[in-house]
Amino acid sequence: MVRVVSEFPKHRPRRLRRNENIRSLVRENHLTLDDLIYPIFIRYGENMVEEVPSMPGVYRYSVDRVADAVKEARDLGIKAVILFGIPEHKDEVGSDTWSDEGIIQRTLRVLKKEVPEMYLITDVCFCEYTSHGHCGVLHDHEVDNDATLENLKKQVVSHAENGADMVAPSGMMDGMVRAIREALDSAGYTHIPIMAYSAKFASAFYGPFRDAAESAPSFGDRRSYQMDPANSREALKEVLLDVQEGADIVMVKPALAYLDIIYKVKEHTLLPVCAYNVSGEYSMVKAAGKLGWIDEKKVMVETLLSMKRAGADMIITYFAKEVAQMINKGEL
Ligand code: PBG
Repeated sequence: MVRVVSEFPKHRPRRLRRNENIRSLVRENHLTLDDLIYPIFIRYGENMVEEVPSMPGVYRYSVDRVADAVKEARDLGIKAVILFGIPEHKDEVGSDTWSDEGIIQRTLRVLKKEVPEMYLITDVCFCEYTSHGHCGVLHDHEVDNDATLENLKKQVVSHAENGADMVAPSGMMDGMVRAIREALDSAGYTHIPIMAYSAKFASAFYGPFRDAAESAPSFGDRRSYQMDPANSREALKEVLLDVQEGADIVMVKPALAYLDIIYKVKEHTLLPVCAYNVSGEYSMVKAAGKLGWIDEKKVMVETLLSMKRAGADMIITYFAKEVAQMINKGEL
């Protein structure tokens, strides 16, 4: 039988989609172990591992239990973690953040000793440490930018002293990158890089994180320091300022609803770009998966790939272990 071949179409992109061999040859983006940064919550207490109710599969660990979790990540091939602390005592200024006995400082010492291969990034902020839940020092019910910078300097130097490999300021204070760079340099930590949460939006997607980190503001919201979700040129301004101030890596957060920002940031800077696949993005996928409404694993992979396609060089994600497992099994 003679097959009828029409003149049209001349171009047949489907030729390169016929089977997995050819599809994999022409695939433009991949998820690899090199992309992943795994967030870890450390909470006061002893011998404690508790699941975060709004984030199934994500746990909070006491300092004495955190090493096992990080070893598990290491054994899966994950190379970096970012640490979030929940201290026992909060105060007006968040002084736990620069104390040698602070929750992050104790964690850093344990992890440096027990899992020396892991790259340790610290989230640098105050909201989990202040009694009012805002990201700095308050003055007349407003976050005082420059007073907060002074405390940020103490915080990063203390993190570096206790073993942090990189610091990641997330408070969206003006001038924070320069202040932190100067503090690290004058304390002798010229080799410690800064990953700036440069374009961080005032997002409802942080809801589950605030449950996990006990960091919801006790009054008001964060719109006087985090960015308006309606803006993209402003995100570029924030990124370019952080580049000038000495950032080593810039971040866009959240990721999924902000893929356009990731794309633009990548076009406007030569620094590596990190995307933060935040708590609400994780919980949405988990919840819909649990209800049987979506294929959780496929949606996870598709959303993370979209971040790579948009230009992310690395992704902070609560899915890191699940992705690593798929990679190790050859499923990705
Ligand atoms: C601030 C910080 C937040 C997140 C990371 N760092 C919370 C906030 O700005 O309210 C959110 C991360 C997430 O939702 O996964 N310390």
